[in-house]
Amino acid sequence: MKKNSEWWKKSVVYQIYPRSFNDSNGDGIGDIQGIIKKLDYLKMLGIDVIWLSPVYDSPNDDNGYDIRDYQKIMREFGTMADFDQMLEEVHKREMKIIMDLVVNHTSDEHQWFVESKKSKDNPYRDYYFWRKEPNNWGSVFSGSAWEYDEGTEEYFLHLFSKKQPDLNWETPALRQDVYQMMKYWLDKGIDGFRMDVINMISKNPDLPDGELEEGQQFGDGGKYYMNGPRIHEFLQEMNKEVLSHYPIMTVGEMPGATTDDAKLYTDPERNEVNMIFTFEHMDLDSAPGGKWNLKPLDLRDLKDNLTKWQMGLHNKGWNSLYWNNHDQPRVVSRFGNDQNYRVESAKMLATCLHFMQGTPYIYQGEEIGMTNVKYESLDDYRDIETLNMYKERKGLGYSHEEIMNSIYVKGRDNARTPMQWDDTDHGGFTKGTPWIKVNPRYNEINVNNALEDSNSIFYYYQRLIALRKKMDIIVEGNFELLEKEHPALFAYKRKWQDEELLVLCNFSQEEVVIENEELLRKIRDYQVVISNYESSNKSTLKPYEAIVLKK
Ligand code: GLC
Ligand code: CA
Repeated sequence: MKKNSEWWKKSVVYQIYPRSFNDSNGDGIGDIQGIIKKLDYLKMLGIDVIWLSPVYDSPNDDNGYDIRDYQKIMREFGTMADFDQMLEEVHKREMKIIMDLVVNHTSDEHQWFVESKKSKDNPYRDYYFWRKEPNNWGSVFSGSAWEYDEGTEEYFLHLFSKKQPDLNWETPALRQDVYQMMKYWLDKGIDGFRMDVINMISKNPDLPDGELEEGQQFGDGGKYYMNGPRIHEFLQEMNKEVLSHYPIMTVGEMPGATTDDAKLYTDPERNEVNMIFTFEHMDLDSAPGGKWNLKPLDLRDLKDNLTKWQMGLHNKGWNSLYWNNHDQPRVVSRFGNDQNYRVESAKMLATCLHFMQGTPYIYQGEEIGMTNVKYESLDDYRDIETLNMYKERKGLGYSHEEIMNSIYVKGRDNARTPMQWDDTDHGGFTKGTPWIKVNPRYNEINVNNALEDSNSIFYYYQRLIALRKKMDIIVEGNFELLEKEHPALFAYKRKWQDEELLVLCNFSQEEVVIENEELLRKIRDYQVVISNYESSNKSTLKPYEAIVLKK
């Protein structure tokens, strides 16, 4: 019974950020009809599941992650009839669709908050956190995590923007309302949820001050709101009341979760979620003080970290595998080389990830090797996190150049520029003016070009996805890191029954000479499964070469 329902172990997920995917009516904003037009493209890629970032009614302070009405579609994206049509078209093509579930917070324009704010004895008052005195927590989007409300002369908590008040999960009626809303979507026939910052829904009810580092204005309350005291109880309750009644998949976005936490969240016996998104490998190129403080990646840190997750969850839980999403810079610019080796390094990164154990996620544009952007003016940026950080750092005395550099490397808008479909204006994303500028490289990097070139990154992803369907070892096998200390080579072995796979990835633009005798012997004897160069010299890996071999 369990086994059959674990279809998501063999699936590949493709994330759509609707605002930037495809605009069907020329208003410069992607929409549901735009998505429907591209479903055949996704089917051709071979993916099984679409994860749709929020499409709910929202004032768009955080591009839909601030929800005003959970059961209404955002006007710019279309109507509920468009949604139903999309769902039907997805299912017709034997794909599935999972929706973003954003229930750590709502928009301040959500009816619950409108009520909550009205008076201290309003029945919705305790749907949110109200205090006479704020604690010292800082918001993820800069500034204090508390906002004063003049009407009732109290502060409310918002870990993200002040238009995203945090929901208080201690309140049983709120939890029931959330479960009802989830059932509404599941009864419509969606295939699961990606749960936004779901390990932040249980806060330490005392809301103690966080640690205050020298020179910092706000305390870090993370340990009081991430993986909090009742988090497992809440997830188990949600599972019992809702999730367990449907044959769906669930993935929890969980900043600050360790492998030990992940085992608890994803152990099938515990009935919480199927898998989580870890942030650990995304934090390795940050210095102390957070993501905007840049530090080059040391490949050994990445190898150590991913190995810890691969081995930690094997036979205990389940991994999700990702390099990219709407919050992260483009991986080919980040861990690859988006200049001289864009195609090679994009394929190498894909190889490295897709041969691991877990469910792989592809973010729109990753399959054609889309790159980061560098807009000169701050006016071309849209993301609230970026804009707030700019103001804050300017106030702290950072130079414009220094701040812009952080934005170029880490800003979320790197991932949010329009999808590049062809070389017509705005990359074919819209006939109007896009809500955010297209990446100027759209002439060269676009879907049309990719589909015309049999050697493209697109077709390489297509092969990786097909291999996962064909080779059970990719889904089932264990993981062992090889050449642990090598600074440029990411090599690992997968084993299952009497099968064995070797995955060798050169993360640098220098050649890597393999010296390990045992490895060399295997490389000579084994068969090539896939490689990103036409021919391989077997003992020397070319710049960004990736090669997979099987016994
Ligand atoms: C998650 C989302 C991000 C959003 C935040 C607040 O991290 O992925 O885009 O800004 O939660 O909802
Ligand atoms: Ca539109």
